[in-house]
Amino acid sequence: MKIFIDTANIKEIKEALSLGILDGVTTNPTLISKENRPAPDLLKDICVLVSGPVSAEVISLEAEAMVREAEALSKIAKNIVIKVPLTAEGLKAVKILSQKGVKTNVTLCFSPSQALLVGKLGADYISPFIGRLDDISAEGMGLIRDIKLIYKNYNFKTQIIVASIRHPMHVVEAAKIGADVATIPFKVIGQLLKHPLTDIGIERFLEDWKKVPK
Ligand code: G3P
Repeated sequence: MKIFIDTANIKEIKEALSLGILDGVTTNPTLISKENRPAPDLLKDICVLVSGPVSAEVISLEAEAMVREAEALSKIAKNIVIKVPLTAEGLKAVKILSQKGVKTNVTLCFSPSQALLVGKLGADYISPFIGRLDDISAEGMGLIRDIKLIYKNYNFKTQIIVASIRHPMHVVEAAKIGADVATIPFKVIGQLLKHPLTDIGIERFLEDWKKVPK
């Protein structure tokens, strides 16, 4: 499973890169707004650091305007992937962008029926938001299972990015299902790594090492 980081924060991206496990970055308007910088400059800096896909979202609601925005965003760097919302206009934009060779990530997916259309259309990525479903007492991970099955049945090539991840078990479950990508907040990447028995084990080894004659 590929690991993307769900952030627009340069420090977090650098830290995740230093671990050697990072395959890409996803941003959205909310994440960009936290950085207090013009989006093109910020995205350019991210793309200098990361050679894998970097998702940047359009904010227009009409297909033609989305395509215009996508064209401007694509000029920032070769690895920019255009995030479009899962609406009728978004699907129209994906069709046009695919014909132009622009990679797309269809975001704000909350149902298998939405995902079926995106797979049929052949977008490069789909982003089902599992945490936001859990937040309203639905089973987010069930959506990933459904999409995985549908895409397998029809050999759809669209890659599933498990998004809106809240905790490490979301990542583990996504990997068990065989999702293509998990886009993970920085804090959760740290949580994936930690285990109290590892820390206790290191402490004990260091204590015992002191007893070894020098
Ligand atoms: O980037 C999209 C998604 O991961 C957002 O997550 O935590 O705002 O539901 P969240």
